[in-house]
Formats: sequence, structure tokens, C-alpha cells
Amino acid sequence: MPQNKFVMITGSTSGIGFELAKLFAKDNYDVAMSGSSEKIYESAKEIEELGVEAYPFQADASTYEGVEAFWKFVEGKNRKLHAAVLNVGVSLGGAFMDNDLEEELKLIDINISGTVHTAKRVVNHMVPNGEGNILIVSSLSATLPTPYETVYGPSKAFGFMFAEALREELKDTGVNVTAMLPGATNTDFHHNAGMDSTYFGDDSIKNEKTEVAKQGYDALMNGLDHIICGDEETKQQAEENKRTPEPVKAANHAKKAKPQEQGD
Ligand SMILES: NC(=O)c1ccc[n+]([C@@H]2O[C@H](COP(=O)([O-])OP(=O)(O)OC[C@H]3O[C@@H](n4cnc5c(N)ncnc54)[C@H](OP(=O)(O)O)[C@@H]3O)[C@@H](O)[C@H]2O)c1
Repeated sequence: MPQNKFVMITGSTSGIGFELAKLFAKDNYDVAMSGSSEKIYESAKEIEELGVEAYPFQADASTYEGVEAFWKFVEGKNRKLHAAVLNVGVSLGGAFMDNDLEEELKLIDINISGTVHTAKRVVNHMVPNGEGNILIVSSLSATLPTPYETVYGPSKAFGFMFAEALREELKDTGVNVTAMLPGATNTDFHHNAGMDSTYFGDDSIKNEKTEVAKQGYDALMNGLDHIICGDEETKQQAEENKRTPEPVKAANHAKKAKPQEQGD
């Protein structure tokens, strides 16, 4: 029996990361999984039921130590890493002038610093092997200003352009980099961002997380530079965003993301 391939997925306790873990497992990848809660151990058991090894690790991705600890855990398996999904990410709803600076800096630590940190370790592991697949989870929010999630959209724009830049640098190394840009998706994400009272509090307007994850997975396996994930409307929105001036996109997003108690 040939040994399974090996993937690491950050933020895979639930949501899109967990759906991606299932897809890799179904393709016989063993999966190293991280999350900040104890539930990561239960999630890993569910992945093992698909017939692969799952290695759960509980660590806080908002700290340098937490990010490094997960990498050391992965490296400690002494296996070639075939794929890495840099998925962990959070948003923060509310007006910039009201939000805690600490919460905003934590978002930047998770979405930007943690992504760069993990990518550094993964790239330095994969390039000498001459192969590897890196999926960076950005967002449709990378293509517009996101008032009332003021810091989130820019953090995802970073992820998108970081992925495209890295892809170009690594094009002759055998290591592929793909960015995944989901539209609003039915996970706990907006609830965790304190956005229940907004348009995004309604799951019925969102994309199905299984479909979003499948589109991202297929794009990675086909070596695409990036993919907009979601239904036709989401893909059309991305096209429109290329032609729409920033102030118009900002005003549209503000209507959707403004907490209702502050609404017009
Ligand atoms: N849902 C959307 O509408 C949407 C749209 C576009 C892009 N995205 C992007 O998709 C990615 C995944 O989002 P999601 O929708 O799946 O969100 P989610 O349902 O809130 O899941 C977030 C995941 O990250 C983990 N996590 C959160 N904070 C962490 C921390 N400090 N340290 C370690 N792990 C942490 C969670 O595990 P624990 O609970 O164990 O901490 C969970 O597995 C994010 O990068 C997000 O920006 C989401």
C-alpha cells in the first residue's frame, strides 16, 4: 500500500476548513488540523472515520507561538507535506471608531501575520522537495472596501495579492499557489464576527459551504491562480466589482454590514 499524501489545514475545526479537510480525506490525504478550541479533537475523529489519519492540534493562530507550535507539530510528523491550506481567518463587525483596537490587531495577527508566518515555513519545506500545493483562503471581500468590517476586507486583499505574488515567484519550483475567494458562506463566521443583526446574519442568502470548499479544492488541484467560490450570483458580483468604483462598492457593502441598531 502506498503511503497517503499529507496536508495541513489551519482553522479546520469547523466551517470551510473542515469541509476542505473532508475533501482531502476522501482523496486519501492524512490531515493535520488546527483550531483554538477543544472541538478540534472531535473534528479530527470525524475525519478519521473517512479512513485516513487525522492529527489535531489546539493552538491560538493569533499568536506567533501558536502559529509556530502548529508548524512544529506538522514538521514533527517527519513526512513530506504535499498540500497546505492557509484557511484560518476572522472578521470583526461594527464601526471602526467603536471597535477595540486590540480586536482589530488580533484580526491582523490571524489573517495577515499568521498567513505570512505559516507560508514561510511551508514554502521552505516544499521548495526543496520540488512539489507542493498551497491554498490561501482569501474572500470576495478582497475585491471591495468593506465598511463595518473595516479591517477585514483589506486583510483579505492582502491574502489574495500575497498568493498571486508567491505563485509567480514559485512558478519554476514545482510548488503551486492558489487563492480561494468565497462569497458569503453558511458557516459560523459572521456570527463569530458579531454580525447577527446585519444582512449577513441571514444564512439563507449565503453560499453552501460544501460547494464553496469543493470549488476551492478543484481549483487547487487544477493549479488555477485563483477562484471565486459560490453560486453564479457570487461569480457575477466578482465581475461587477472589477468595473464598479470603490465608493459605490463601499456604499453597497455598508448597507449590508452596518449593525441594524445603527441603521438608517
Ligand atoms: N464564511 C464566509 O462568509 C467567508 C467568506 C469569504 C471568506 N471566508 C474565509 O474563509 C476562512 C474560513 O472561514 P469560515 O467561514 O470557515 O469561518 P468559521 O466557521 O468561523 O471557522 C473558523 C475556523 O478557524 C478556527 N479559528 C478561529 N479563530 C482561531 C484562532 N484564534 N486560532 C486558531 N483557530 C482559529 C476555528 O476553529 P476553533 O473554533 O477551534 O477556533 C474554525 O475552524 C476565513 O479565512 C474567512 O476569512 C469566509
